[in-house]
Amino acid sequence: MRKDSLQIELRVLTSSDYSAWKIAHLNQNDPLNKWDRAHRKEDLSKTAFNKILKSQKAARDSEKNYTYGIFLKKTGEFCGYVMAMDIVRGITQTAFLGYTLLNQFWGKGIATAAIQKFFKVAFKELELHRLQAGIEPHNKRSLAVARKLKMRREGISKRVVYLRGEWQDLVQFAITSEDCGIKWKGKAKKNY
Ligand SMILES: CC(C)(COP(=O)(O)OP(=O)(O)OC[C@H]1O[C@@H](n2cnc3c(N)ncnc32)[C@H](O)[C@@H]1OP(=O)(O)O)[C@@H](O)C(=O)NCCC(=O)NCCS
Repeated sequence: MRKDSLQIELRVLTSSDYSAWKIAHLNQNDPLNKWDRAHRKEDLSKTAFNKILKSQKAARDSEKNYTYGIFLKKTGEFCGYVMAMDIVRGITQTAFLGYTLLNQFWGKGIATAAIQKFFKVAFKELELHRLQAGIEPHNKRSLAVARKLKMRREGISKRVVYLRGEWQDLVQFAITSEDCGIKWKGKAKKNY
């Protein structure tokens, strides 16, 4: 697949996406590294899928987390997710950026293209001003993605997340609407 011809669609998953979701999960390779968390082949039932839809909707309705499915326009294939997590409004208007692809889609430029597109969604539709990504120092693929996206490397937070039974460091990257040439038009709380 030529990277410059990648056509990505981002959208909230609906019940009509069940078969694309199921096929993508069935076609995964064995887990490729310890960050390969999208990997699951156990419960691919319609009931399990509906539970995912329900929890994504609840997170949207409470403005906690917006999750978008990543699809290839050409084939309709479901590849994974990009999301704004732990949204804080008030005077910060910020969120953590999350992304994960099913592993048969790795190394094709899909994550970079999808996140690039997501910046517009986050800064225009969701009216966020800043996205922050915390990446484990050895997650080379993810670090490469942040660099390709020209996210600003802001430093290292030491022992900041508890993952896989240990406190882990995160390399912090951030990007704001201005960095993407988008004028922020949301409402921040006044009188602080
Ligand atoms: C991180 C992830 C989303 C990247 O997706 P992707 O579609 O493979 O990303 P891209 O193809 O856009 O870019 C990957 C880059 O990593 C580079 N890369 C691949 N394997 C690598 C390795 N072992 N070491 C260093 N760089 C590597 C590629 O060369 C590519 O850069 P390039 O386009 O300049 O060649 C995907 O690997 C994933 O889902 N991982 C598991 C979940 C995860 O880690 N999420 C992020 C949490 S912070």
